[in-house]
Amino acid sequence: MASSVLEVSQPIAHKTRQYQSHPGSHYVLPSDEPERERLNLQHRLLTTIFDNRLIFAPLPSIRGDEAFLDSGTGSGIWLLDVLNHVPPSVKLYGIDIESCLFPRDNEALLSRGNIHFSVGSITKLPAEWTDTFTLVQQRLLVAALQHTEWRVVISEIFRVLKPTGWVQLCEAGPFKAGPVTDKFRILLYALFAHKGLLLDCGVHIPIWMREAGFTNIHVEERAVPLGQWAGQLGVDGSNDIISIFRGMKTPILNAGGLGLVSSEEEFDGFLDDLEKEWDETEGAEHKFLVLFWMSGKCGECGETTAWDQELASTICTHCGTLGDPNQVLLTSHADFQESSTRDTIWNPSSGSTLKGRNGWALAGQGKEARDKKNRTVASRLAHAGSASRAQTIFDQAMNRGQYRWGRKAKLTAGASVAIALREARKSDALHDIAYLLEEHMAPISRAFSSVISLLQLGLASADPSMHFSALQGYLHSLVQDPTSSLSPKLLTTLRPLMAQLPTVMCTAKSLANLLSRSNTLSHLPTPPTACALMLLALEGELRSSIPNASALADALSKRLGV
Ligand SMILES: C[S@@+](CC[C@H](N)C(=O)[O-])C[C@H]1O[C@@H](n2cnc3c(N)ncnc32)[C@H](O)[C@@H]1O
Repeated sequence: MASSVLEVSQPIAHKTRQYQSHPGSHYVLPSDEPERERLNLQHRLLTTIFDNRLIFAPLPSIRGDEAFLDSGTGSGIWLLDVLNHVPPSVKLYGIDIESCLFPRDNEALLSRGNIHFSVGSITKLPAEWTDTFTLVQQRLLVAALQHTEWRVVISEIFRVLKPTGWVQLCEAGPFKAGPVTDKFRILLYALFAHKGLLLDCGVHIPIWMREAGFTNIHVEERAVPLGQWAGQLGVDGSNDIISIFRGMKTPILNAGGLGLVSSEEEFDGFLDDLEKEWDETEGAEHKFLVLFWMSGKCGECGETTAWDQELASTICTHCGTLGDPNQVLLTSHADFQESSTRDTIWNPSSGSTLKGRNGWALAGQGKEARDKKNRTVASRLAHAGSASRAQTIFDQAMNRGQYRWGRKAKLTAGASVAIALREARKSDALHDIAYLLEEHMAPISRAFSSVISLLQLGLASADPSMHFSALQGYLHSLVQDPTSSLSPKLLTTLRPLMAQLPTVMCTAKSLANLLSRSNTLSHLPTPPTACALMLLALEGELRSSIPNASALADALSKRLGV
């Protein structure tokens, strides 16, 4: 095996497959018949784990004059499935840089006349599509888009959506099994770094969406089991993910094996070992995320809207118009668990709109609304399991403190979620909670302390390692971002370390473990300790000090609101 990760040398000879050749594309998967079969298998898998839902966004009932877009459509399998659930007058569009997977031979469906496929990049959608679509679907572009392209694609989606339209994105989350998988992840990081792609794009998407003007985010995460131990679903899951990784052979070997593999046989053997590990490792899994948002455009003037927590509605920052109450939902993903795709599309009452007497949503006034507010914040932070504990804390604090509804209740709700997360030994995520509630950190922190003393809760001193995954994702995006605020010298030092991040994180966790056992830093707040440990671990991997470490410390601590 060659010596250093990210080392790009002479291409390694191998048997290659057919890949797209769109100018400027960095997409690393093939476009051929086996890939069509894989995409179709993957569609069935994802539909199964997400309860047979094709449409996640709570669309109102379909009138028939809508248009849906599948962005980066591949074999068009999602559109072909949706076709059977919408009236023939609904127009369905698919766009992709490569046409060879389009379902040209599916005459029976295509002859219905309401489905159109076109070749083009989702970084530059047709100008005439502005304000056209009620729903944009985009699934699994993780292996295609660079950091800057993600932002462009999101703003293009925003442009082509109608006001009050919805976008739903499905992206790959983390995967886990055993040591071979951990080793393969390093190769994957190396390939993605080499191509400028973002393996953890799911972490960044909510921030980019919000920046682009989208509101009312919903997130769901499900896992596909990998390997024979999980029966047919596990076998299908393994076949899908292994085919993805095998499909990356050409870009990896064309880059000389990236310092991690030195021949085609070694690459193939690596993948065989990976498959074997999954078959033998109960609990091996790959997570997938579905994230959906409402377009933040005003239905009256087309300008950007902002989410108003008190009204539980979007409100236009330009003309002050409130959003359509039928589409304004404060919803936990639990609300959608039992609804089939058909229900979601056809039955307008399957949504969970909270309406007051005047027809506007009145979140924060009733028990149901309160539950939803807590659950929404908790599930947006991907810890839906903490929501009921947060609810109990919230109810007790409201009773005992005799707090009034309004901002005090909002801060108490945020604090309750943070306390429940901390009790579950997860990151209290105060910074993220403040962001989601559109509040500053300081009042949320004060509410956190006052609820703890009001209810006399004895919180165990927190473990700094709970912040590591947030820091890891943030560091990765800082280094990938071409507009990064870090100095060129610092970036040059950090870039080669990105492929070693799993090792860096292990070192940081071991350090946190040592400290918590010796109780050395338990009296200090955890966010700065986590940043310091991360810096130490990076320096350990570098085997020297980081130049201008204080700038990096500043950047990391901003992520945790220090
Ligand atoms: C992993 S496939 C997913 C296909 C489909 N969304 C699905 O879930 O079945 C990614 C697709 O994105 C397409 N793609 C990559 N970069 C693109 C771009 N810039 N514009 C349009 N399509 C792109 C690829 O050609 C490929 O068909």
